[in-house]
Amino acid sequence: MSLLVHIAVLFVLIKTCLWLWKHVHAKRRNLPPGNVGLPIIGETLSFLKTAPSGKFYRDREQKYGPIFKTSILGLKTVYVSGPEAMRQLFQLENRGLISWWPPSMQKLLGEGSVGAAPAELHHNRKKALVNALKKVDYTEICDQLGEIVNNEMSEWATKVKFEVHCHAKFLSIRCACTSLLGLDLTREEVGKVATMLKGFEDGLFTVPINLPGTAYHKAIQSKIQLYEFLKGKFQPQTSNTCILSSTGWSEDIMPDAIVELLFGAQETLSSFMTCSMLLLKKHPKVLQKLQKSIFGAGELSDATYVDCVAKETLRLFPPIAGGFRITTKEIRLKDYVIPKSWGVTYNIRSTHKQSPYFDDPDCFNPDQWLALSGCLPQLHYIPFGGGAHACVGRDYARVIWRLFLTTLTTRYAWDLITEDPVLLSLPVVRPDGGMWARLFPLAEE
Ligand code: HEM
Repeated sequence: MSLLVHIAVLFVLIKTCLWLWKHVHAKRRNLPPGNVGLPIIGETLSFLKTAPSGKFYRDREQKYGPIFKTSILGLKTVYVSGPEAMRQLFQLENRGLISWWPPSMQKLLGEGSVGAAPAELHHNRKKALVNALKKVDYTEICDQLGEIVNNEMSEWATKVKFEVHCHAKFLSIRCACTSLLGLDLTREEVGKVATMLKGFEDGLFTVPINLPGTAYHKAIQSKIQLYEFLKGKFQPQTSNTCILSSTGWSEDIMPDAIVELLFGAQETLSSFMTCSMLLLKKHPKVLQKLQKSIFGAGELSDATYVDCVAKETLRLFPPIAGGFRITTKEIRLKDYVIPKSWGVTYNIRSTHKQSPYFDDPDCFNPDQWLALSGCLPQLHYIPFGGGAHACVGRDYARVIWRLFLTTLTTRYAWDLITEDPVLLSLPVVRPDGGMWARLFPLAEE
């Protein structure tokens, strides 16, 4: 009898071990391909060296395909791209995936921002900001912003040469201060805001050790100074021109919220402006068609073709490379298992490239949007992200791109001194070492 019990226990044990082995093995087998490198360090060194140029992800995508694993910034991470993977990924938000930022970014953006808000606060925080942005009267701000765009471009035209990306940042900040915060700043004051935002930006991808002399320390100081400076001009909670006043947010949230708005608008829109100037210069026929469409001499005399050019620019050069998430439980994505507490990063440009809806994924062809608009399936085109963390600034961005492209192409011609700038992709798409140009007013007809 006792022998039988022993055999039965042994049998159950062997069965359990076999099941466990199979289970663990199956999970391992279903991890995405890729290399997690050395413990803790992983592939971080290579990431820091080659991520800004886009090479880090490009090389691995070529080797392993659109979904692969790596280990960066102390986190095992799965890179995801492609429309179908995006659909699954965005559906998993708050059901196994939440937002994650590298520690320095998380701390600098702050819990009062929407993007870096704790998961349990994110939904309501975002709703308040979306509602606040819905109240913006875009027709009214159009006149105001049109004047600023005109004013800035006429400044650019006075210079023998100017660096486009840096001037586009200034323009974007001036627009955001005026139309989102409702501030009437002088150009000198906008310059101060720009300098403080630059100090903030320089600390975003650093080791978050707050010691004097470090970029991280300077970034914290810049953010405090920026808020103090703006507070000297207005009270964001009560000002009837600041969009944030309708959110009902308390004073302690405001520094994060204001910096997020200014930073979000500045980085993305300046990237768009720079890339559109580059692409239009490289494609004179598109530029001509755009001018004709705006003047009403072409077959499209409204903003349709302006929007085609903007969408195509954002398809080829989405300002933000993608987003970061972390798993709160084991999830399945396509055929793979991603374990709990792993990072997930999605890639926008590669997703656009994989979509079969675009003729030649690397070619600048705004005309294809004439047929595509309205019939492109969701998630084949995601410059504004998607899911729970999709961008809140799309309508505002549209106003800016229309004003920018219309003013630029109907009033000015430009030469690129930096003819073929190398474009970096982190933290946003931007020319390495800048893109220098000359702007000339067009003779009035
Ligand atoms: C061409 C212009 C823009 C592009 C391409 C863009 C792109 C994006 C992308 C891809 C995300 C999602 C990031 C993620 O998945 O984690 C995002 C989020 C966000 N954007 Fe934009 N953006 C643009 C303009 C703006 C502007 C003008 C504002 C401010 C008015 C803004 C405010 C935000 C905020 C607050 C979030 C965080 C949303 C959340 O976490 O729920 N963006 N943007």
